[in-house]
Amino acid sequence: MTRRSMCLVWILSLALGIFSGSGCGSRGYQFGELTQLADKYQTDKGSRLHRYTEVYECFFHPMRSSARKICEIGIMEGASLRMLADYFGRAVIYGIDIEKVSHLDSDRIHTFVADQADRKQLAAFTEASGSGFDLIIDDGGHSMAQQQISFASLFRHVLPGGYYIIEDVHTSLLDDYGVEPGGVNSTLTMIERYARSGRIESRYMTAEERQQLEWDVSYCSLVSRNNGTSIACIFRKRQPQ
Ligand SMILES: C[S@@+](CC[C@H](N)C(=O)[O-])C[C@H]1O[C@@H](n2cnc3c(N)ncnc32)[C@H](O)[C@@H]1O
Repeated sequence: MTRRSMCLVWILSLALGIFSGSGCGSRGYQFGELTQLADKYQTDKGSRLHRYTEVYECFFHPMRSSARKICEIGIMEGASLRMLADYFGRAVIYGIDIEKVSHLDSDRIHTFVADQADRKQLAAFTEASGSGFDLIIDDGGHSMAQQQISFASLFRHVLPGGYYIIEDVHTSLLDDYGVEPGGVNSTLTMIERYARSGRIESRYMTAEERQQLEWDVSYCSLVSRNNGTSIACIFRKRQPQ
């Protein structure tokens, strides 16, 4: 990671408040089950690699029994879909991937083929699945265009008070993934500007999409793990006053 990148993450940590430790102090609840499930099914969200689940559980626990509809972009072998289905016992889990993986379909797991950078394909998905997601996680291709187009297209389908998570935002600090010199188009830069000004700026979004997001996002929190080499961002949907 370059000096500029480390500086950017540090500034964001001051602006947003980074979750870097584990445990969030819910009385009488033993945290750790989500990570156990992640490790059981071998998704890299658990202690195998990114360690996001240690923090996610603080956000997921309060909605564990109320959540009815969850979506994840990026299925691969279905490890994370299985983790989510086990943790949220009353929810249907929708998965989107550019590859067909319909052999994973069951009564509570539904998979769809779609390119997360294609608005029409995402609209066909929400047409088929319906709106009103308690949680959407983007663990797809992690390029700048993919992350920002999916965010613009799908955040409106999150329920008030629900969450949208962009995983592996640290790809904004890497050479591939469509990052331009100085990170001008990066997802991390978009988040940093939002933290400073409350404005969403993204070359991948229309003016209407940016305005809608500025209205809809109630707050965002960065999740930094493994000394900042694994970063996710959690956005919360505004609730009516
Ligand atoms: C990191 S893997 C997902 C892992 C899974 N979420 C888990 O934790 O078990 C990334 C997945 O994103 C999918 N993917 C890549 N580009 C995509 C795109 N443009 N649209 C949708 N899915 C894409 C890949 O096919 C791959 O299955």
